[in-house]
Amino acid sequence: MNASDEAQSKEGSKDPSSSDVQGVQKATTQQTLEKKPEEKLEEKKAEEKKPPEKKAEVKKIEEKKEGGISIPFFGKKKEEQVIEYLFDPIPEVKPTETYWIEEPYAKILVVPMPERGGQSGYFVDEVKLTDKEEEAFRKLRDILSKELAPPKDMTVDAKDYVVSESKRLIKKYSYIMGAPTEESTKRIEYYIRRDLIGYGPVNPVVEDRNIEDISCDGVGRPVFVWHKKYESLPTNLKIMDRPYFNDFIIKLAHFAGRHISTAFPIVDAMLPGKHRLAATYGEEVSTFGSTFTIRKFREEPFSIVDLIELGTINPALAAYFWFLLDNRLTVMIMGGTGAGKTSYLNALTNLFRPGLKIVSVEETAELNMPHENWVQFVSRESYGLGASKIGEVTLFDLVKTSLRYRPDYIIVGEIRGEEAFVLFQAMATGHGGISTIHAENLEYAIKRMTSPPMNIARPYIPLMNVACLVERVALPRKREGLPFGRRVRQVWEVRPDGSYDTIAFWDPIEDAFTVSLDKTVHLPNICLRQGMPRDWYIHELQVREAVIKWMIDNNIHHFKEVARTVTQFHVKRRKA
Ligand SMILES: Nc1ncnc2c1ncn2[C@@H]1O[C@H](COP(=O)(O)OP(=O)(O)OP(=O)(O)O)[C@@H](O)[C@H]1O
Ligand SMILES: [Mg+2]
Repeated sequence: MNASDEAQSKEGSKDPSSSDVQGVQKATTQQTLEKKPEEKLEEKKAEEKKPPEKKAEVKKIEEKKEGGISIPFFGKKKEEQVIEYLFDPIPEVKPTETYWIEEPYAKILVVPMPERGGQSGYFVDEVKLTDKEEEAFRKLRDILSKELAPPKDMTVDAKDYVVSESKRLIKKYSYIMGAPTEESTKRIEYYIRRDLIGYGPVNPVVEDRNIEDISCDGVGRPVFVWHKKYESLPTNLKIMDRPYFNDFIIKLAHFAGRHISTAFPIVDAMLPGKHRLAATYGEEVSTFGSTFTIRKFREEPFSIVDLIELGTINPALAAYFWFLLDNRLTVMIMGGTGAGKTSYLNALTNLFRPGLKIVSVEETAELNMPHENWVQFVSRESYGLGASKIGEVTLFDLVKTSLRYRPDYIIVGEIRGEEAFVLFQAMATGHGGISTIHAENLEYAIKRMTSPPMNIARPYIPLMNVACLVERVALPRKREGLPFGRRVRQVWEVRPDGSYDTIAFWDPIEDAFTVSLDKTVHLPNICLRQGMPRDWYIHELQVREAVIKWMIDNNIHHFKEVARTVTQFHVKRRKA
């Protein structure tokens, strides 16, 4: 057996799963058996004359083997030496905070960065693989991509399935992977989980519960996060390779069940776990290459009690909104990007009377309510190409449809276009409505509503009974260690003639709310509509405020528990 044969044979015995290698080897053996001795001698001489070609063939086989079964996304060959992404080293200064994401494999350090004038940075510190482990990891990843069959039982958790399969395959191919120790196997499994079912290098950030938002502005630029405690921070992660970044964006889009490509370079969708994804592909529409931003979803949304404890509103204001919602008044929540509009809207729904029929309409499903009688509609993009709008279902279509469901309340996640017009039509016909609008104050909001594409006629504006502004503000005193927070800065009642008055505001010096109801028009109207004295609302607000304070005192926080308490309140009152 000459050197090249030996190499082939080794290759074959190394990886019995590689049919290419086996195939080539089988063919060579058969040929040798059929040939006459003198032919063999001739051939051997000829072969000896050109050994490099034979060697190259072995290499080709290796390449083919790798290329043949590597998965397109993470399957870059190591020898290409392409730096796909990198984590900058952690500066050797005392971290402000350190915490584990997955002990002992991934941790986060918030560290002051001297080169940025002491500004903090968010550093991901993952366990490192040795060269041998790295090699084993690559092999296992390739084997998995070839051998992993879809689970027979579709109800199994994908994560658990991949982990159990990788465990099985590590055992089966232990000899190919250099028989990794138990510790090595666990480290390899970490990377398999991270890369095959997670978000690759971004995964520790996605898993960090302190992160509200993750974004990357292009190739070679640091990924930025919005940290609950430290606000915007650059991370030590940079995605360096354009094709790798493009593949990453395709993977994100696929996670969301969507398509992104040169032809359709923008995606706005929902990732598993209900995280909101906006991404662009390649340099089509973004100069620095692919970009993405992920707004993380809270599995347990803020309840109204949570928001009181965070200082976003106070019990008196919550009682005011509760009374409004009990009487089907309409509320518009205003604020800038990420001000907390949707979270506030969602928390208000905790206060709905039991049995109300609620229909919500959103672009991405962000709302999370405990009510059973709730229909959640989500708009859909067109399946057509180019200018074709085929298959598209817009917010406008859904708001129109929602009216057929005879809702007590229609909730529109955010009004931007012509759906606002339909929402106001619905409110004109006696439906309750809540929505949010991107605007910095009431005047701008009204201007936006009365201009294209919303086109709401001015006389319709008072159909928005109450407007409130939510803002992210700097706090005069730290609260729960945070120098900033979200506050309902101002609440207005819009009068039937279109004028408006402030009902409540937040004092930025004292970090306190002032609620003055002497100018209210809606509360006495509600009382009269119910055949009660004009000032009956005073008592009603007091009762509701007492219930809210009772929930705080009794540690009732969870949105489902809050909604249950509201139900109990109504049931008891009905009995009384
Ligand atoms: N009252 C609050 N206190 C603390 N964090 C909050 C509060 N409200 C919202 N957040 C956090 O702020 C982020 C943005 O919240 P949310 O989506 O409600 O804002 P938004 O104004 O609707 O944003 P967008 O403009 O993107 O629609 C979320 O991560 C959320 O968890
Ligand atoms: Mg929102």
